[in-house]
Amino acid sequence: MFPKCWNFIIIISILLSLQLGDGQPFDYPTANLSTTWINSVSANHSVDFTDGSKVRAILLRGTFGPRYACGFFCNGKCDSYLFAIFIVQTNSVSNIVMPSLGFPQVVWSANRNHPVKINATLQLTSGGDLVLRDADGTSVWSTNTRGRSVAGLNLTEEGNLVLFDRNNKVVWQSFDHPTDAFVPGQKLVSGQKLTASASITNSTEGGLFSMFVNNEGLFAAVKANPPQIYYQQVVVGTKANKKASYAKFQNGSLALYIHSSEPRDPDSVITLPQISSAQYMKLGSDGHLRLYEWADGWKEVFDILTGYLGDCNYPTVCGKNGICSNGQCSCPTSVNASMNYFKPINGRQPNLGCSEITPLDCNASRYHNFLELEDMTYFTFNADITSTNMDSCKQACLGNCSCKAAIFRYGSNSSNGDCYLPAQIFSLMNNEQDKTHYNSSVFMKVQITPNASAPAKTSPKDHD
Ligand SMILES: *[C@@H]1O[C@H](CO)[C@@H](O)[C@H](O)[C@H]1NC(C)=O
Ligand SMILES: *[C@@H]1O[C@H](CO)[C@@H](O)[C@H](O)[C@H]1NC(C)=O
Ligand SMILES: *[C@@H]1O[C@H](CO)[C@@H](O)[C@H](O)[C@H]1NC(C)=O
Ligand SMILES: *[C@@H]1O[C@H](CO)[C@@H](O)[C@H](O)[C@H]1NC(C)=O
Ligand SMILES: *[C@@H]1O[C@H](CO)[C@@H](O)[C@H](O)[C@H]1NC(C)=O
Ligand SMILES: *[C@@H]1O[C@H](CO)[C@@H](O)[C@H](O)[C@H]1NC(C)=O
Ligand SMILES: *[C@@H]1O[C@H](CO)[C@@H](O)[C@H](O)[C@H]1NC(C)=O
Ligand SMILES: *[C@@H]1O[C@H](CO)[C@@H](O)[C@H](O)[C@H]1NC(C)=O
Ligand SMILES: *[C@@H]1O[C@H](CO)[C@@H](O)[C@H](O)[C@H]1NC(C)=O
Ligand SMILES: *[C@@H]1O[C@H](CO)[C@@H](O)[C@H](O)[C@H]1NC(C)=O
Ligand SMILES: *[C@@H]1O[C@H](CO)[C@@H](O)[C@H](O)[C@H]1NC(C)=O
Ligand SMILES: *[C@@H]1O[C@H](CO)[C@@H](O)[C@H](O)[C@H]1NC(C)=O
Repeated sequence: MFPKCWNFIIIISILLSLQLGDGQPFDYPTANLSTTWINSVSANHSVDFTDGSKVRAILLRGTFGPRYACGFFCNGKCDSYLFAIFIVQTNSVSNIVMPSLGFPQVVWSANRNHPVKINATLQLTSGGDLVLRDADGTSVWSTNTRGRSVAGLNLTEEGNLVLFDRNNKVVWQSFDHPTDAFVPGQKLVSGQKLTASASITNSTEGGLFSMFVNNEGLFAAVKANPPQIYYQQVVVGTKANKKASYAKFQNGSLALYIHSSEPRDPDSVITLPQISSAQYMKLGSDGHLRLYEWADGWKEVFDILTGYLGDCNYPTVCGKNGICSNGQCSCPTSVNASMNYFKPINGRQPNLGCSEITPLDCNASRYHNFLELEDMTYFTFNADITSTNMDSCKQACLGNCSCKAAIFRYGSNSSNGDCYLPAQIFSLMNNEQDKTHYNSSVFMKVQITPNASAPAKTSPKDHD
C-alpha cells in the first residue's frame, strides 16, 4: 500500500509541476468589469478564414484542438457582424489556427436580428451589464444585469457565456437564451426553444421552425397559427417532481428528462453518434436537426429527426401546397385535368411549392369549393371534429374562412372519422396505408370563378 501511495503522490507532483512550469495559461476565458472591446480591423485575435468568414475573438477557453471562443463574427461580405460564441481550432498556445479548414461554427449569438458594423462595441460596464452597441451608438442587445452584483464574465469549458457574482453564482448565462444551436452539456429547458435562422446565408431569426420541450415531451413545430407539430417524442407518465422538464445533450444521446430529473435515468433518449472530438447540433432553416462533428473539417454526422420522419414529413419539403412523393414534388391537380387550381411557384424548382391560380377570397366564399386529393395525408393532425363524416368535415371548412383544407381520416367506415381544419397548408404527402393504417383524404379549398362550368370534383362518398 505504502509504496503505491508514494508513487501516486510523485506522479501527481510531476503533473502539477508540469502544469505550473510549462502550462502558463495562454487562453483568455474571463473578463473583469469596466472592459470595452471594439469591433475594429486592428483588434487582437483577429482571423480571416478561406470560406470568407472572419472572427475577432474576445474570450477563448482552452488550448489545442476545437475550442469555444466568443467575439465578433462575420461571413461573406462582412459588412455586418454578430457578437457570437463559436468553435475554432487552436494550437498549444491558444492561437486560432487552420484558417482553411477550421471554419468558425457559430453556436450562439446576441440578437441575430440586428447585426452590427465595424466599430461596434461590446462593453462589460462597471455596473455589471453586458451591452452590445452598434457603431452609431444604438443599443442592440444587453443582458440587463445592472444592479445584480455581477463580478465578471466567464466563457466556460462547455461554451456557456456566464456573468457571475462575487459568490461565483450565475447571474446570466447564454445557455438560458438558446438560438438555433445546441452543444454537449447544454439543456433545453421547458420554456426555452431553438429557433431556426431564416436561411443558411441569413442568420436572422426569421425561421419557420422551432424545437422545444414541455412537460409532455420534445417537439418540433413549424410556424403557423396555431403552430403545427411535425416531430414529437411524447413521454407518457406523470411528473415525479416540480422541476422543469428538459432535454440534455449528452455524449451519445439527447436525453429527455420530462417527468424525472438527474441523477435519475432519463425518461427517454434519442441515440446519437458518440462524441469523438467536438460536436454541436443545429436546427436548420429546412426543419432538419443536424449533428455536426469535427474530424479534419466540420462534417454533418447525423440527421437526427429524419430516421423518425422520413423526408416527406418535413413541412416545407415541397413548399406550401406541394405534394411530396418519394422525394419528388408536384402540385395538386384535379382528376379532371382541364381544371387547374395550383401552379408551381417556380417550374424549375418544384420544391418551392405551389400557389393558388385564383387566390381564396373570403368575400366570395360562395365560390369556394374543394379539390379532392384521395389517399393523401399531412404531417400533422389535430382533430377539430371527431367521429364525423366526410361531408360534415367539408361543410365545417366551407363555414370557416380561415380553413384552408379539410383533412379527413378514417378506418374502414368513412362515416366515422376525424376531421382536421388547418388554417395553413405546408407540404402534403401520399398516404401509405400499409404504414399509416388509416384512410386519409385531403380537400383543398379552392376559389372557383363564378362562370366556370365545372366545379371541383366532389366525392362519391359524401353521404353515409
Ligand atoms: C481581473 O481582476 C483581477 C483582480 O484585479 C486580476 O487578478 C485579473 O487578472 C483580472 N482579469 C482579467 C481577465 O483582466
Ligand atoms: C491587444 O492586446 C494587447 C495586450 O493585451 C493590448 O495592449 C492592446 O491594446 C490590444 N490591442 C487592441 C487593438 O485591442
Ligand atoms: C472606426 O473608428 C475609427 C477610429 O475612430 C475610424 O478611424 C474609422 O474610420 C472607423 N471605421 C469605420 C468603418 O467607420
Ligand atoms: C469559469 O469557467 C470555468 C470552466 O468551465 C469554471 O471552471 C470556473 O469555475 C468558472 N468560473 C466562474 C467564476 O464562474
Ligand atoms: C433575412 O431574413 C429576414 C427575415 O426573413 C429578411 O427580412 C431579411 O431581408 C433577410 N436579409 C437578407 C440580407 O436577405
Ligand atoms: C464519449 O463516449 C465515448 C465512449 O464511451 C468515449 O470514447 C468518448 O471519449 C466520449 N467523449 C467525450 C467527449 O467525453
Ligand atoms: C371584403 O369585404 C370587406 C367589407 O366589405 C372589405 O373591407 C374588404 O376589403 C374586402 N376584402 C377583399 C379581399 O376584397
Ligand atoms: C380504407 O377504406 C377501405 C374502404 O372503406 C377499407 O377497405 C380499408 O380497410 C381502409 N383502410 C384502412 C387502413 O383502414
Ligand atoms: C359507420 O359509422 C356510422 C356512424 O358512426 C354508423 O352509424 C354505421 O353503423 C357505421 N357502419 C358500419 C358498417 O359500421
Ligand atoms: C376557424 O378556424 C380557425 C383556424 O382553424 C380557428 O382558430 C377558429 O376558431 C375557427 N372559427 C370558428 C368560428 O370555428
Ligand atoms: C361571367 O359571365 C357573365 C356573362 O357572360 C359576364 O358578364 C361576367 O363578366 C363573367 N364574370 C366573370 C368573373 O368572368
Ligand atoms: C372536366 O371539365 C370540363 C370543363 O370544365 C367538363 O366539360 C368535363 O365534363 C369535365 N370532366 C369530368 C370527368 O368531370
